[in-house]
Amino acid sequence: MKKVILLVGVLAITLASCGDKKKEEVKKEIETVKEEVKVDEPTTTEEAPAESADAQVTAGKKVFTDKTCTSCHAVDTKVVGPSIKDIATKYAETGGNIVKFLKGNSDAIVDTDPGQVSIMKGNIDTILKDVSPEELQAIAAYIRSVK
Ligand code: HEC
Repeated sequence: MKKVILLVGVLAITLASCGDKKKEEVKKEIETVKEEVKVDEPTTTEEAPAESADAQVTAGKKVFTDKTCTSCHAVDTKVVGPSIKDIATKYAETGGNIVKFLKGNSDAIVDTDPGQVSIMKGNIDTILKDVSPEELQAIAAYIRSVK
């Protein structure tokens, strides 16, 4: 009788460890799959920047139009405000931060005439308050893309 119990016990242990092994194997397989997925990632991120830079410029152009910036800023002629080209050139030359200006955190560098500055300041305090940080980045990318 004791022997039978012992045998059952041994069997149970063997079965249990067998089950564990299977679990281990499945775990390993999952990890292998995970690693395979990881290997694929770099190729997708490598292609992303070029695509998203273009997408950002396109998005920025749309925000610039939708938020009526175009009523005072044309691509290469002065309307009420300086042309987009003049803004892009000035910011490229001086290494200025367009987003910072649009957030109201840096002074005008393109047209510093107080009357002109107050017109643009009016937009920063109104229209631009509703523009998300991502959209501000997109507007800046669009302005920088105009040459
Ligand atoms: C009512 C007319 C008007 C509208 C609308 C307008 N701007 Fe302006 N903007 C100006 C004037 C005037 C200036 C010149 C003063 C200045 O440079 O700050 C200017 C200047 C700028 C500059 C250059 C800032 C600098 O450093 O001198 C940027 C960038 C700019 N605007 C972005 C925008 C964006 C983005 C919008 C849309 C949300 C917009 N503007 C809408 C009139 C306008």
